[in-house]
Amino acid sequence: MRIDVVTIFPGYLAPLDEALVGRARRAGLLDVRVHDLRRWASGVHKAVDDAPYGGGPGMLMTAPVWGAALDEVTASGDDDAVPRLLVPTPAGAPLTQRRAAGWASEPWLVLACGRYEGIDARVLDDARRRMPVEEVSLGDYVLAGGEVAALVVVEAVSRLVPGVLGNPASAELDSFAEGTAGLLEAPAYTRPERWRDLDVPEVLRGGNHAVVDRWRRDRSLERTAAVRPDLLDALVARHGAAAFD
Ligand code: ADE
Repeated sequence: MRIDVVTIFPGYLAPLDEALVGRARRAGLLDVRVHDLRRWASGVHKAVDDAPYGGGPGMLMTAPVWGAALDEVTASGDDDAVPRLLVPTPAGAPLTQRRAAGWASEPWLVLACGRYEGIDARVLDDARRRMPVEEVSLGDYVLAGGEVAALVVVEAVSRLVPGVLGNPASAELDSFAEGTAGLLEAPAYTRPERWRDLDVPEVLRGGNHAVVDRWRRDRSLERTAAVRPDLLDALVARHGAAAFD
């Protein structure tokens, strides 16, 4: 899978050399390319922003700079390959495991990181004429720019690309994966059995898988009810009381 990230802070994306994503890149499973948006800026100052029409605080990133960058990056694939353009913004639809899983089966993603008050709206209107475009939000808070969100998207997507995870079963058991009925994961323990007078729960040491499964499900329900009651509500809305059988 190919992923291009366009940003005015390429250094922000340095973590993509590390850990799981870094390994996957070196193994040839992911082709991640980070581009400096200023390459497409002109003038002595290489400005990428300007004041918004209609007034208001802050600056917007300009259409000519983003247009030139996206034209070049999206034309650099094989034959007539067309990428999916993802734009992190607090005004986007929320990132979910389902969306990440959908993107993991795409051959090519381009992430456009905005800064300041965002990007001139015509950039996405124009891009939509040639490729699928999705705006994505990490949550209901405002970051200083799209770079951290791009890191999150790349990591969430990459670990779902076949071969990237050593043990694909770990992705299937994740809190938000399909197989786990939409509950948060139960707490987990490893050796030593006793640490600072705290013991690993007896049931987990017993080796009775049915009992372990029941215990994990109960802890999942408890945890979900405590911190994400909205997930339980969604489960009941989808499956009724049978969700808890
Ligand atoms: N850029 C700024 N805030 C953001 C958010 N919450 N999600 C995605 N991109 C952003």
